[in-house]
This record gives sequence, C-alpha cells and structure tokens, in this order.
Amino acid sequence: MLSSWLENESGTTFPRIRFLLIYVKRGYKGKTMGQVIDKTYNGLKVPQGDKMTFKDGKPVTPNHPIIPFIEGDGTGRDIWKASVRVIDAAVKKAYGEEKSIKWFEVYAGEKAKDATGEWLPEDTLAALKEFGVGIKGPLTTPVGGGIRSLNVSLRQIFDLYCCVRPVRYFKGVPSPVVAPEKLDVVIFRENTEDVYSGIEYVAGSAEAKKFIDLCESLGKKVRPDSGIGIKPISKFGSQRLIKRAMEYAIERGKKSVTMVHKGNIQKFTEGAFRDWGYELAAGEEPFKTKIVSEETLWDKMDGKMPADKILLNDRIADSMFQQVLTRPDEYSVLATTNLNGDYLSDACAAQVGGLGIAPGANIGDDCAIFEATHGTAPKYADKDVINPGSVILSGAMMLEYMGWVEACNLIHEGLAKTIQQKKVTYDLERLMSGATKLKTSEFGDAIISNM
Ligand SMILES: NC(=O)c1ccc[n+]([C@@H]2O[C@H](COP(=O)([O-])OP(=O)(O)OC[C@H]3O[C@@H](n4cnc5c(N)ncnc54)[C@H](O)[C@@H]3O)[C@@H](O)[C@H]2O)c1
Repeated sequence: MLSSWLENESGTTFPRIRFLLIYVKRGYKGKTMGQVIDKTYNGLKVPQGDKMTFKDGKPVTPNHPIIPFIEGDGTGRDIWKASVRVIDAAVKKAYGEEKSIKWFEVYAGEKAKDATGEWLPEDTLAALKEFGVGIKGPLTTPVGGGIRSLNVSLRQIFDLYCCVRPVRYFKGVPSPVVAPEKLDVVIFRENTEDVYSGIEYVAGSAEAKKFIDLCESLGKKVRPDSGIGIKPISKFGSQRLIKRAMEYAIERGKKSVTMVHKGNIQKFTEGAFRDWGYELAAGEEPFKTKIVSEETLWDKMDGKMPADKILLNDRIADSMFQQVLTRPDEYSVLATTNLNGDYLSDACAAQVGGLGIAPGANIGDDCAIFEATHGTAPKYADKDVINPGSVILSGAMMLEYMGWVEACNLIHEGLAKTIQQKKVTYDLERLMSGATKLKTSEFGDAIISNM
C-alpha cells in the first residue's frame, strides 16, 4: 500500500493514512520507570518508556518518553552519533535521573531499503504514529523510479502542516551581512498546499490539455504546449497555520506576526491567505483580545502599540526579502505559504551564516518530526567531518516543543560558547580566521563540555 502511495505523484494521501490507525490500537503491559511496550517495529524491540500524547494539538510529555529517530543517510550516521550524545547530555544536566529520552531507532531511506526492501517501511510510519514525536537526519531522495521524496511523504502522511524554522545568529558564525544578529525570526511555513500539492501535468499530456481546454472555456488563454501546475490554497489550511504562528507569538511574548504573501498578483490564493489570517485574528479568542492588526493600530491607536498586545501585519513576499536585509529587527514571527516559505527560510538562514546549522520541524496536531534542513552530503559520509549543528539544534527545538526548555537552553548555550571559542567543523573553519577545525564527534564533545 505504501509503495503504491509513494508512486502516486498526484493522488491525495488522506484516505491512505487510515491503515496506520490500526497500529495505535495495540495493547501494553507492565509499568515501571516507563511502560514495557511489548512490540517490535522493523524487527527492533521498543525500549521501556512512555508514550507522548497530544491534547488540543499540543504534546503532553511523560518523564521518560520513547522517541523514534531516523539516523539518516550518508553523513546522517556521523551526525546522529554526535547529536544524540549532546541531546542526552543536556537532558541529564538539566534533570538528572528524573527525565530521560528512550531512543528508538526506526528505519527510513537507504538503511531501510537494505534492512526491509522498502525506502519507508510501514513499521516506521506506524512507530512514528504511535510515539508521536520523532527526529530525523537527512535522507537520500532516490532519483527516478517515480519515488516521492521521503521527506515530503512524511509531511503528507502525518499531515505535518506547519514547517517551523527558527533563524537566529550565533555570535562568531561567518555571515555575509554586516549585522547578522539583528535577524531573529521564526518562520511558520504552510507545508501541505500551494504548488507543492503535487497536482502537475506534463506539457502535451491529455490531462494538461483538459486543463487548457477548461481554461479556454472560462475565457482564459493558455499556450497549448504548456505544462500545468495547480496552486490550491484553502481557508482551512491557511488559518490553521496562521493560528499556530499567532499562538506561538502569544506563548513566547513575541512582538509581531507578519503574514508574507504575494496577494497583489495572486489574489484568490496568496491574497486570500492574508485575508483569512486577519479574519481569524479578529474573530476568535484569544487572538481577538491579544492581537492588533496594523490597520487598527493606525486607524484607532495613532500608531502606538499597547505593550501587552501583538501586532499582526502583512508584507508582500518580494518586499519581505528586502525587509529581512534592510530592517531585520522589525520582524519576529513570519507566517507564509509553502513556496514563499521555502525560499524565505533558506534566504534568512544564509543571512545569519547558518544554512549548515539551521534547524527545522514539521508539526501537525498529533505528530511532530524534527529534522536536519540540509541534505545527506554523501561525499563526506562516515569521515567524521560534517557539521552536526542542524540536527543538534533540531533536537533542541524538539526539547523545547516537549516543554523541556532548560535542556534546550543548555544546548543553545553549549553551541554558542563552542562557536565563540572558534572550535568548529570544516565548513565554518574555512570561513573563519584563527579557528580550530574539529571533527563531528569532537564538536559534539565541545558542546557538551560547554553546557
Ligand atoms: N531534509 C533532507 O533529508 C534533505 C534535504 C536536502 C537534500 N536531501 C538529499 O540529500 C542528497 C544530497 O543533496 P545535495 O547534495 O543537493 O545537498 P546537501 O545539503 O546534501 O549537500 C550540499 C553541500 O552542502 C554542504 N553541506 C551540507 N550539509 C552540511 C553539513 N551538515 N555540514 C557541512 N557542510 C554541509 C556540503 O558541502 C555538501 O556537499 C540528495 O539525495 C537530496 O535529495 C535531503
């Protein structure tokens, strides 16, 4: 069933998720420091520990949660070895024996193909579904053969509609701009719609012709040799993403949420995204009380923002690319559509010099997967040289999401100090003067000793 889904480039995924639900109905037995869950996935036994649960889209974290991890292909192996040590050390330092992560390996990518014959085995999906929160290294996307990106597959299967990319500067990281520390934003990118929804037809196909004919019947001219791609943006999809961004801003006391869109041109998709955002903010609590739109600010408040409120504004995407360079400190939380968010996340990460260490998460209402934002960099595989920062910081994000903020802060502190001591992996060392080049494993050690 899974392989047929993977080969289906345009079909909707939601009906196919149903088969996963049967797995969550399996029973448990025993109870000590965590439950004994007498099960195996991909032939591996589940460790003793407890399951994460979710309430109203938010995680409820036990003291010893079972967290599935996907090691990742290529350099993923070295990166994971270093990252898991850093994450465990932070948890131990913050909470002693009171809390710990019970790691559970699940296979995906090349390792899964070798062990099970599948790129993304059903057992892996079932384990992620059951345990709710997972972390992954980079995965190879097999080229050709009609196989979808495993990353895109995971996002769609679990309806991880919210891609979260925090972008902040770590002092000492080489950056192409003069004041990289001024940019400190969290980007919420819609993850399931837009031109990524997979509704695409090659030029000359019968399907493309059907769409072209349909357009003509509506009085629109499309060249007959056109490829066709469809851009669906729904009110439901937009509002649940913008809601997450606004909730985040309220919880963390952020000063603003900016909707980034291209609504001046694409009025009924990108423009509607913005309108639905304002509608949500004006119509629902706690947003009605907490959030002030830019229009209200100027029409009714003389431009004076009350200290306890959060500003909701919007910017056209092309102007936003200028704004993050010219007025970075005016922005805080950004909420945007899928394609804009894809471009903007990497542009912002590059601005703080952190493309190789940028963390990311894909979050839904009952599942969240934290991941490296770079690829598998296969030429450096198993050489113990690659920068593990992206997975380490994704691990810190995961801890914060679980409510283990103290452990998250320790990782940030350890990483920041290590970079300030100019102890870095090759990718940063070659751009810094007087830096010490560390191996992947040594970089992990240095972060731990700096916590
Ligand atoms: N999230 C993911 O799993 C993900 C993302 C992008 C690409 N990929 C896959 O990775 C494979 C290789 O893709 P690619 O070569 O286009 O991109 P890549 O990110 O793997 O590598 C490009 C270059 O960036 C540098 N680089 C990447 N990560 C680094 C790190 N942690 N430390 C230091 N330098 C780093 C290296 O110089 C590398 O050669 C492909 O199969 C692709 O599909 C996976």
